[in-house]
Amino acid sequence: MRVAVALKKSWRMFNHGPVTLVSASAGGVDNVMAAAWVTPLDFDPPKFTVVLASDTYTRALAERSGELMLQVPTVSMLSVIEGVGACSGRDVDKWTKFAIEREREDGVAAPLVAGCVGWMAAKIIDEPRLATEYDLFICQGFAAWADDRAFSEGRLRDDVPPELRTVHHIAGGTYIVDGDLVRASHG
Ligand SMILES: Cc1cc2nc3c(=O)[nH]c(=O)nc-3n(C[C@H](O)[C@H](O)[C@H](O)COP(=O)(O)O)c2cc1C
Repeated sequence: MRVAVALKKSWRMFNHGPVTLVSASAGGVDNVMAAAWVTPLDFDPPKFTVVLASDTYTRALAERSGELMLQVPTVSMLSVIEGVGACSGRDVDKWTKFAIEREREDGVAAPLVAGCVGWMAAKIIDEPRLATEYDLFICQGFAAWADDRAFSEGRLRDDVPPELRTVHHIAGGTYIVDGDLVRASHG
């Protein structure tokens, strides 16, 4: 079940560095790409840095709408991650090609990719120099949701089913699947 996540806690879904899917929508067109370079920047309200290369269609749609969706896919979605990361929505309808289901939330422009375990709807903060010089976008989350089998009560669960584990991109089609949580004692 997709449940709402307190914005204050929502950055924790991304803090372990999973590869993400970034979706955006403008003028009635939706698109999605893979992005490994998504990093939490602030807690409350949550902010992220996202690197979106200048030739990506997702970036063009996000710049037009001023919004994007960051989401955390699972190991079961490896072929989707690789697929949407290897072609452009300018040339192909990725939703059809990779049989990706999308969902909507009220007041949110970008679609949610079904099957992910975390979603963050975010608005782009206008920083044109960062975008032009570094392909870097700072965005601020305004709503977040999680699959409660993976993330609940504001934290990653330690009994996440194997098929819902997240993945970390190393390079060139190589990933690490998320492992077991280890809790340090804080004295
Ligand atoms: C695992 C993975 C991680 C990626 N990370 C990024 C990233 O952080 N930033 C980026 O601009 N492109 C990244 N890409 C490449 C884009 O996903 C790719 O250029 C995509 O085709 C863009 O699609 P679009 O033109 O439909 O937006 C990544 C690709 C893969 C497979």
